[in-house]
Amino acid sequence: MSETPHTRDFAREEIQAIYRVIAERRDMRHFTDRPVDTDVLKRLLAAAHQAPSVGYMQPWRFIRVCDSTKRAALKQAVEAERQRTAEALGERGDAFMRLKVEGLDQCAEVFIVALADGRERHVFGRRTMPEMDLASAACAIQNLWLAARAEGLGMGWVSMFEPAAIAHLFDMPRDARPIAILCLGHVPAFYDRPMLAEAGWADRVALDSLIGVDAWPTDHSGLSGPDSSDTAEQSWWDIPSK
Ligand SMILES: Cc1cc2nc3c(=O)[nH]c(=O)nc-3n(C[C@H](O)[C@H](O)[C@H](O)COP(=O)(O)O)c2cc1C
Repeated sequence: MSETPHTRDFAREEIQAIYRVIAERRDMRHFTDRPVDTDVLKRLLAAAHQAPSVGYMQPWRFIRVCDSTKRAALKQAVEAERQRTAEALGERGDAFMRLKVEGLDQCAEVFIVALADGRERHVFGRRTMPEMDLASAACAIQNLWLAARAEGLGMGWVSMFEPAAIAHLFDMPRDARPIAILCLGHVPAFYDRPMLAEAGWADRVALDSLIGVDAWPTDHSGLSGPDSSDTAEQSWWDIPSK
């Protein structure tokens, strides 16, 4: 595609900044107690609210947790689920219990993200895949995450909880559904790599092994089919798209 003034809205450095923010965003578990500026908070929530959403339904709701008793209750709920997860993991349970899975004690701000009530009214793009509401809210959280990183703030997404317990704690409508506890704040330093990679829990999968051409990805070349010998040296980006 040729580059026109209309398609080339961003300066080279701005484009690089976007990729840098994406690469340097980390799921954070360690925070300092320095407060977060209110204007920054407003910008982050506004960024979240600009996310795409199925049928423009904007299913996200945010609760800022200011009450220390409620924060303590959240911590308890996560701890209970951490124990249950360890049991479910069987032989990896001990290794799991050594991981730090939340930063609720230290972070300056805690937000709950929930799916709104009344979602069944929204059929556009969800008739066969109702979970697209969750996908939309995840886009909002990712916006917030990236904007926070750009502002020099860390964020951690905690999903280790029983949704009903959190819904009850914040008196949510019957069909609302909490999907995230977000720990947000200044950090001592950003991790260079995902903490789970540092801890040896998992590694990033090779991108090429996740991309197929006209078929499900195969593990080695990203090309599939019984006879890929002709194209064994090719990767998905070498093949012209019609
Ligand atoms: C939907 C979702 C839920 C997550 N829930 C948790 C969680 O409960 N506890 C935790 O320690 N990390 C959680 N994470 C963070 C992941 O562990 C983290 O994103 C992954 O290890 C990659 O690290 P990175 O985000 O720094 O690239 C969650 C991430 C996502 C996207």
